[in-house]
Amino acid sequence: MSAPKKLFIKTYGCQMNVYDSERMAEALGGEGYIETKSADDADMILLNTCHIREKAAEKVYSELGRFKGLKAEKPDLKIGVAGCVAQAEGEEIMRRQPLVDLVVGPQSYHRLPEMEAKARAGEKVLDTDFPEEDKFEKLKNRPKAKRGPTAFLTVQEGCDKFCAFCVVPYTRGAEVSRPADRILREAQDLVERGVREITLLGQNVNAYHGAGPNGDLTLAQLIWELDKIDGLERIRFTTSHPNDMQDDLIEAHGTCAKLMPYLHLPVQAGSDKILKRMNRSHTAESYIRLIERIRAARPDILISGDFIVGFPEETEEDFQATMDLVEEVKYGTAYSFKYSTRPGTPAAERAQVDSAAADDRLQRLQALLTRQQREVQDSMVGREVGVLFEKAGRLPGQMVGKSDYLHAVHVADCSRGIGELARVRIVSSGANSLAGELIS
Ligand code: SAH
Ligand code: SF4
Ligand code: F3S
Repeated sequence: MSAPKKLFIKTYGCQMNVYDSERMAEALGGEGYIETKSADDADMILLNTCHIREKAAEKVYSELGRFKGLKAEKPDLKIGVAGCVAQAEGEEIMRRQPLVDLVVGPQSYHRLPEMEAKARAGEKVLDTDFPEEDKFEKLKNRPKAKRGPTAFLTVQEGCDKFCAFCVVPYTRGAEVSRPADRILREAQDLVERGVREITLLGQNVNAYHGAGPNGDLTLAQLIWELDKIDGLERIRFTTSHPNDMQDDLIEAHGTCAKLMPYLHLPVQAGSDKILKRMNRSHTAESYIRLIERIRAARPDILISGDFIVGFPEETEEDFQATMDLVEEVKYGTAYSFKYSTRPGTPAAERAQVDSAAADDRLQRLQALLTRQQREVQDSMVGREVGVLFEKAGRLPGQMVGKSDYLHAVHVADCSRGIGELARVRIVSSGANSLAGELIS
């Protein structure tokens, strides 16, 4: 048997790309590839890219430039670009960077083995179609290898919302849900391989409506099916849209013990004028009322959000409305971004906000969000939480895991191993993590 070829994958962007990278590695595993952590000894390099902001997309070209020397030394080295930049700018990548042998869009990963063979034969290959078939169903080269305690599982892809700033509906295509039985089979398989916590992924995960035995299932119904799997201890999902937050899902947060008290619910802005211009189809008020209903079902739930500042036409007053909304909601975590103009999206054509003003707003928003995040984290001290241990800590005997609320928690002299779930009392709150003690 010939020596295995080595595959180096670098992943950018969202969790969905992390999941896709695992699937690509499995698909190429069937072609005799094993993964390597270093680009230097790779026979194939794949960049799984993100197009969400300009900076993310530009990284790809600078990263590719760095492989020039490597390719000169190793003419057999194949270089591929996958993900959302591949989808958006596939042909341009081929033109701008002759090093690239292969471009594959997010809906075509199941065709990677044939594409790899063509690239090996010296062809340049590009596939950015949106085929009808379920790529994940065709990507079934799964080795039964043991896995860590947490895993992502994509249940829904694409988006029909067309927020005025966003490339996702173009790079990932229309919203599609995977059938429930495939998801349940995959979850069962993950659990058999050691997984204790599954995070269901989708660009609009709460719009999930996959086929079930008696018609379509909602996300909440899918969660209740997953709840029946023995050995699966925790369920999470991301990312949700406020308008798809249905009653049964809110209720599940109060009644499903495996569903963790954490919800990522991006709002983007607090000004109704801006929300309207963003095509978000919710108001600040409706978002706040929604949070109230969710907190009524699960009072301790940790709310996480996404924000964009400096969206076209945003005034200082509009920005203040975002600050007011943040004050009202009180976020446990949040991701905030300066608006980045994306070619082809409606907002790109509008009056842009002065860049320095946007930087200043971002700084003020981040200061507020950081303060809130710290307050919520500090409020965990003295409480009893579940912790799923994921790895050994830096100190001897120390273990690190995530709380139900997704805070990093470390426990000294810990008698529990990786993959064990324990009750822990939080004793102190540090810069980025909590310290706790096992409750015997
Ligand atoms: N589907 C999710 C998020 C998709 S992208 C949702 O609906 O919220 C992740 C985040 O990136 C978005 O929530 C938004 O805050 C940010 N983002 C998207 N496009 C952006 C742009 N053009 N400039 C700056 N931030 C952007
Ligand atoms: Fe982008 Fe809006 Fe769809 Fe989220 S809901 S992926 S922000 S278009
Ligand atoms: Fe980026 Fe594509 Fe995800 S643009 S955020 S990798 S869906």
